Amino acid sequence: MEIKKKSFIETYGCQMNFSDSEIVASILEKLNYEPTTDIKAADLILLNTCSIRDNAEQRVRNRLNELHALKRKHPGLVIGLLGCMAERLKDKLLEEERHIDLIVGPDGYRQLPQLLEQVESGQKAINVLLSADETYADINPVRTGGSGVTAFISIMRGCENFCAYCVVPYTRGKERSRNPQTIVKEAFELFEQGFREITLLGQNVNSYRWEDNGISIDFPALLEEVASVNPLLRVRFATSHPKDISDDLLEVIASHENICKSIHLPIQSGSTHMLEMMKRSYSRDCYMDRIAAIRRIIPGCAVTTDIIAGFCSETEEDHQHTISAMREVGYDYAYMFKYSERPNTIAAKKYPDDVPEEVKSRRLDEIIGLQQELSLKSNKREVGKEFVVLAEGVSKRSDQQLFGRTSQNKVVVFQRDAFKPGDYVKVKIVSCTAATLRGELVL
Ligand code: 5AD
Ligand code: SF4
Repeated sequence: MEIKKKSFIETYGCQMNFSDSEIVASILEKLNYEPTTDIKAADLILLNTCSIRDNAEQRVRNRLNELHALKRKHPGLVIGLLGCMAERLKDKLLEEERHIDLIVGPDGYRQLPQLLEQVESGQKAINVLLSADETYADINPVRTGGSGVTAFISIMRGCENFCAYCVVPYTRGKERSRNPQTIVKEAFELFEQGFREITLLGQNVNSYRWEDNGISIDFPALLEEVASVNPLLRVRFATSHPKDISDDLLEVIASHENICKSIHLPIQSGSTHMLEMMKRSYSRDCYMDRIAAIRRIIPGCAVTTDIIAGFCSETEEDHQHTISAMREVGYDYAYMFKYSERPNTIAAKKYPDDVPEEVKSRRLDEIIGLQQELSLKSNKREVGKEFVVLAEGVSKRSDQQLFGRTSQNKVVVFQRDAFKPGDYVKVKIVSCTAATLRGELVL
């Protein structure tokens, strides 16, 4: 019997990267690598990296230093860098981090067999070519590390929005959609394997479009098809761009019980002037018009967002516009960041990064403080109501409790009883914090 080699993949950054790591694991499996959770036992360590902010790259650099020590102890160990940082820095990384053997960008994973062969023959290997059509549509991802209840399905790759602050169009290349038949098939197979929730992933899912023989499938049509796989399969999606979240899409969400009532709609700033500089292609008013449409068409839908504090030349007044927009929408949850200049982006080329660090920090703190308040308020509104929760796992605090999510993506902890992950459980919310709801079983 052939002895299997052991691989360890560590993922940084977004859900897209987690999904890519599952594709990489599938490719490695065919090369006779089996995944290990013990990094010290690995023959191959791959870091799937993120470039979105400088601190994301710094975390990887620190990790590489630790791996350097490991490699000195195990000279045969192969270390590779995948993903956005590999794409952004290319062969420069091989010069700067001499213990790296392998560099592969987001569109190069299919070449891993040849690249690993090259490494085995004693050379360094690199593939950072971006592709106009790679979607890995035929590769069946290995579902690593998940709960067996929820899974990601990547439906498109790349981004061509070129928001001024963002590195993604440079690291992930042209936008391209995946064949819908392969998406529906993957959803169907996941359901058969016991999964009960899938999240359709893309940098901008609303621009999904597939043309075949004169027939065109857009995102609302795809979502409807996936939701029809089984009423017991919950469907989520991320991320939507405010410029093209249509009433059509909202109506599809409203008309299917199993499409989750939660929309992630990054605002980035509440100041129309900042939004113009960011090249977001919507004004504050246009964004608020979309929020009004969500409230009208899908009552009770949760809305979450991304916010950047301290973008180039942001004034106190701009910042106050962000604060007032947060209050106006009443976000259920937000991901909040300090602006981090990324080399070669439009902002890096055109605008000075001129908001002082302490001002950025103070504004971010104010934004985080307000969101705490809004999240608590949003959770308090749920107390006394009943929800169907999809159980995902055993609570960290007590093995007598399970946790799961409502359709609105809120985490609920409740009594385990005879329930298990994958079950739908009806609960009544009895109390909450800003982060979690506590529910009692409704029998
Ligand atoms: N600095 C800070 N935050 C950023 N984001 C993207 N680029 C940057 C940057 N240069 C944030 C945006 C985006 C989320 C994924 O990361 O809010 O929606
Ligand atoms: Fe994901 Fe963007 Fe980070 Fe790339 S840079 S891993 S696309 S968050």
